[in-house]
Amino acid sequence: MHDYKKPFGRVELTELLQQYEPNEDFSSYGGVLLHGPVAAYLLKEDFGIEDEEIFHAVYYHTTGRAKMSLFEKIIFLADFIEPGRHFPGVHEVRKLAEKDLDLAVLESLRSTIQHLSSKHVLIHPLTLSAYNDQVRTAK
Ligand SMILES: [Fe+2]
Repeated sequence: MHDYKKPFGRVELTELLQQYEPNEDFSSYGGVLLHGPVAAYLLKEDFGIEDEEIFHAVYYHTTGRAKMSLFEKIIFLADFIEPGRHFPGVHEVRKLAEKDLDLAVLESLRSTIQHLSSKHVLIHPLTLSAYNDQVRTAK
Protein backbone atom coordinates (compact mmCIF):
# COMPACT_ATOMS: atom_id res chain seq x y z
CA MET A 1 0.00 0.00 0.00
CA HIS A 2 3.00 2.35 0.35
CA ASP A 3 2.99 2.73 -3.43
CA TYR A 4 -0.74 3.34 -3.65
CA LYS A 5 -1.21 5.98 -6.40
CA LYS A 6 2.44 5.75 -7.50
CA PRO A 7 1.31 5.36 -11.13
CA PHE A 8 -0.34 8.80 -10.98
CA GLY A 9 1.43 11.61 -12.78
CA ARG A 10 3.39 14.38 -11.11
CA VAL A 11 0.69 17.01 -11.67
CA GLU A 12 -2.05 14.85 -10.19
CA LEU A 13 0.08 13.82 -7.20
CA THR A 14 1.04 17.46 -6.57
CA GLU A 15 -2.60 18.52 -6.67
CA LEU A 16 -3.60 15.68 -4.34
CA LEU A 17 -0.89 16.48 -1.81
CA GLN A 18 -1.71 20.17 -1.82
CA GLN A 19 -5.21 19.28 -0.63
CA TYR A 20 -3.64 17.93 2.57
CA GLU A 21 -0.55 20.11 2.83
CA PRO A 22 -1.10 23.45 1.06
CA ASN A 23 2.50 24.52 1.71
CA GLU A 24 4.18 21.23 0.83
CA ASP A 25 7.50 21.42 -0.95
CA PHE A 26 7.95 17.81 -2.01
CA SER A 27 7.28 18.60 -5.65
CA SER A 28 10.30 20.90 -5.87
CA TYR A 29 12.58 17.98 -4.98
CA GLY A 30 11.49 15.57 -7.68
CA GLY A 31 8.17 14.04 -8.60
CA VAL A 32 9.13 10.57 -7.45
CA LEU A 33 8.95 11.69 -3.82
CA LEU A 34 5.29 12.71 -4.02
CA HIS A 35 3.64 9.30 -3.96
CA GLY A 36 4.72 8.58 -0.36
CA PRO A 37 2.89 11.45 1.35
CA VAL A 38 -0.07 11.13 -1.03
CA ALA A 39 -0.43 7.43 -0.25
CA ALA A 40 -0.25 8.10 3.50
CA TYR A 41 -3.18 10.51 3.36
CA LEU A 42 -5.23 8.42 0.95
CA LEU A 43 -4.82 5.28 3.05
CA LYS A 44 -6.67 7.19 5.76
CA GLU A 45 -9.27 8.56 3.41
CA ASP A 46 -9.85 5.58 1.10
CA PHE A 47 -9.33 2.71 3.56
CA GLY A 48 -9.77 4.22 7.03
CA ILE A 49 -6.21 3.28 8.02
CA GLU A 50 -5.53 5.64 10.93
CA ASP A 51 -2.51 3.94 12.52
CA GLU A 52 0.13 6.62 13.07
CA GLU A 53 3.10 4.31 12.55
CA ILE A 54 1.72 3.09 9.22
CA PHE A 55 1.05 6.70 8.22
CA HIS A 56 4.64 7.69 8.98
CA ALA A 57 6.16 4.63 7.31
CA VAL A 58 4.20 5.28 4.12
CA TYR A 59 4.64 9.06 4.24
CA TYR A 60 8.44 8.94 4.63
CA HIS A 61 9.24 5.88 2.52
CA THR A 62 10.40 8.05 -0.40
CA THR A 63 12.63 10.37 1.64
CA GLY A 64 13.44 8.69 4.92
CA ARG A 65 13.72 10.94 7.95
CA ALA A 66 15.73 11.22 11.13
CA LYS A 67 14.65 9.02 14.03
CA MET A 68 12.81 6.47 11.89
CA SER A 69 11.11 3.73 13.86
CA LEU A 70 12.04 0.11 13.21
CA PHE A 71 8.88 -0.27 11.14
CA GLU A 72 9.67 2.87 9.10
CA LYS A 73 13.18 1.56 8.39
CA ILE A 74 11.81 -1.79 7.27
CA ILE A 75 9.33 -0.21 4.84
CA PHE A 76 11.93 2.29 3.61
CA LEU A 77 14.47 -0.44 2.96
CA ALA A 78 11.98 -2.93 1.51
CA ASP A 79 10.96 -0.30 -1.02
CA PHE A 80 14.60 0.45 -1.87
CA ILE A 81 15.62 -3.16 -2.48
CA GLU A 82 12.42 -4.69 -3.84
CA PRO A 83 12.98 -7.26 -6.62
CA GLY A 84 12.01 -4.81 -9.37
CA ARG A 85 15.00 -2.57 -8.61
CA HIS A 86 18.06 -2.93 -10.80
CA PHE A 87 20.22 0.16 -10.19
CA PRO A 88 23.95 -0.03 -9.40
CA GLY A 89 24.59 -0.98 -5.80
CA VAL A 90 21.19 -2.50 -5.04
CA HIS A 91 22.69 -6.00 -4.80
CA GLU A 92 25.12 -4.83 -2.10
CA VAL A 93 22.30 -3.21 -0.11
CA ARG A 94 20.26 -6.43 -0.37
CA LYS A 95 23.16 -8.42 1.05
CA LEU A 96 23.67 -5.86 3.82
CA ALA A 97 19.96 -5.98 4.67
CA GLU A 98 20.31 -9.66 5.52
CA LYS A 99 22.87 -8.79 8.21
CA ASP A 100 22.29 -5.28 9.53
CA LEU A 101 19.17 -3.17 9.02
CA ASP A 102 20.74 0.11 10.13
CA LEU A 103 23.81 -0.27 7.92
CA ALA A 104 21.58 -1.20 4.98
CA VAL A 105 19.42 1.90 5.53
CA LEU A 106 22.57 4.02 5.82
CA GLU A 107 23.96 2.58 2.59
CA SER A 108 20.68 3.12 0.75
CA LEU A 109 20.62 6.78 1.85
CA ARG A 110 24.29 7.24 0.93
CA SER A 111 23.68 5.69 -2.47
CA THR A 112 20.65 7.90 -3.10
CA ILE A 113 22.50 11.07 -2.08
CA GLN A 114 25.49 10.13 -4.23
CA HIS A 115 23.25 9.41 -7.21
CA LEU A 116 21.30 12.67 -6.89
CA SER A 117 24.37 14.81 -6.23
CA SER A 118 26.13 13.31 -9.27
CA LYS A 119 23.26 14.64 -11.37
CA HIS A 120 23.31 18.04 -9.65
CA VAL A 121 19.69 17.77 -8.57
CA LEU A 122 18.13 18.83 -5.29
CA ILE A 123 18.15 16.44 -2.35
CA HIS A 124 15.21 16.62 0.03
CA PRO A 125 16.27 17.84 3.51
CA LEU A 126 14.50 14.85 5.08
CA THR A 127 16.85 12.53 3.17
CA LEU A 128 19.90 14.47 4.31
CA SER A 129 18.76 14.43 7.93
CA ALA A 130 17.96 10.72 7.65
CA TYR A 131 21.50 10.10 6.42
CA ASN A 132 23.05 12.15 9.23
CA ASP A 133 20.93 10.33 11.78
CA GLN A 134 21.88 6.91 10.39
CA VAL A 135 25.58 7.84 10.48
CA ARG A 136 25.16 8.55 14.17
CA THR A 137 23.17 5.40 14.97
CA ALA A 138 24.44 2.71 12.58
CA LYS A 139 27.53 1.03 13.96
FE1 LIG B 1 7.36 4.03 -3.30
